[in-house]
Amino acid sequence: MTTLRIAMNGVTGRMGYRQHLVRSILPIRDQGGVTLPDGSRVQVEPVLVGRNADKLKELAALHDVEHWTTDLDTAVAEADIVFDAAMTNLRAATLTKAMLQGKHVFTEKPTAETLAEAIELARLQAETGVTVGVVHDKLYLPGLVKLRRLVDEGFFGRILSLRGEFGYWVFEGDSQPAQRPSWNYRAEDGGGITTDMFCHWNYVLEGILGQVKTVTARTVTHIPTRWDEQGREYAATADDAAYGIFDITTPGGDDVVAQINSSWAVRVFRDELVEFQVDGTHGSAVAGLRECRAQHRSHTPKPVWNPDLPVTEPFRDQWLDVPANADLDNGFKLQWEEFLRDVVAGRPHRYDLLSAARGVQLAELGLRSSAEGRRIDIPEITL
Ligand SMILES: NC(=O)c1ccc[n+]([C@@H]2O[C@H](COP(=O)([O-])OP(=O)(O)OC[C@H]3O[C@@H](n4cnc5c(N)ncnc54)[C@H](O)[C@@H]3O)[C@@H](O)[C@H]2O)c1
Repeated sequence: MTTLRIAMNGVTGRMGYRQHLVRSILPIRDQGGVTLPDGSRVQVEPVLVGRNADKLKELAALHDVEHWTTDLDTAVAEADIVFDAAMTNLRAATLTKAMLQGKHVFTEKPTAETLAEAIELARLQAETGVTVGVVHDKLYLPGLVKLRRLVDEGFFGRILSLRGEFGYWVFEGDSQPAQRPSWNYRAEDGGGITTDMFCHWNYVLEGILGQVKTVTARTVTHIPTRWDEQGREYAATADDAAYGIFDITTPGGDDVVAQINSSWAVRVFRDELVEFQVDGTHGSAVAGLRECRAQHRSHTPKPVWNPDLPVTEPFRDQWLDVPANADLDNGFKLQWEEFLRDVVAGRPHRYDLLSAARGVQLAELGLRSSAEGRRIDIPEITL
């Protein structure tokens, strides 16, 4: 059986540990690897990489992982695949190092802090021919898989619009510790909700509807002071909310208007932490991470505006659950398995550094739109 050695950088962090090590690579290892089309299997061998030897040693013992190191260069040199979930501002250097040595790469988003860097990485992928996967986890989640199925089945008729709500209250860190890392709120450390989330929204919009053509955004720092992991007060220099409008063109040539609110300064009155509503001439659907509910044209009530009367319709009850009809595993794990099959087959992964560069581009142009107070056209990236 082939075994792929994976150098996992930033594995002590939130995403690296919870989603990639504990929910993806370890379950893949423990299930005996990934089954290939010919029935054979490929196994994974993680190497934990980071700066803190004590933490790495502890994680390795806890999860029965044989290899760990604080020496990133040696780990890259000895790996088949290099994985990165360290801080965003360190990513481009790590990925460049890996690809120049012919290593396959699987990485968290965003791939770079600037579009120029992200394009350079995509160029390097094309030049070296290595297989690169960039996390597009939302597209593998049950809610969005169901939403995409409705699009494929023509459920919506002509799609008119998408509305997305994302976010929750992130504590400032004084009276209660913050539930996200403090660097996320410092622009100088690569933080900011626009940089963080617009790269997700780009592949979600592409994956569900089509190409994003324009962006209009208003980005804000609602909470200017926060407290870090050591309880020290700091200036939150990065944006913590982004209100975006996007023009989309579907593969069939229809124009769709999408609006997505992203905020770390909002309280949740929704069923899930992110929800997308798609409205079309023949039906509508609301999808979260797991659930998806739909309403067909023939089930659509006819509300009449009358503020003098109490609400007459039980609107939420008039939607039907869209079933999964399949056992949908963790989204990160599903993408890892697809990526590992692509590596063994020697073919590109469908969500690569070019798709990721379009995500970085959307974030960069979103920030520019807000700074300049105008709608911005999104040019096509050519390598
Ligand atoms: N796909 C998603 O839904 C999603 C969600 C959140 C974050 N992310 C991305 O994952 C990445 C990590 O985010 P996180 O929330 O896990 O952050 P985190 O702060 O919890 O983890 C960052 C990791 O980088 C390491 N690190 C910090 N400075 C370093 C240095 N100088 N050298 C080497 N390692 C260093 C830390 O020790 C830690 O292991 C970010 O790029 C972020 O954009 C993705």
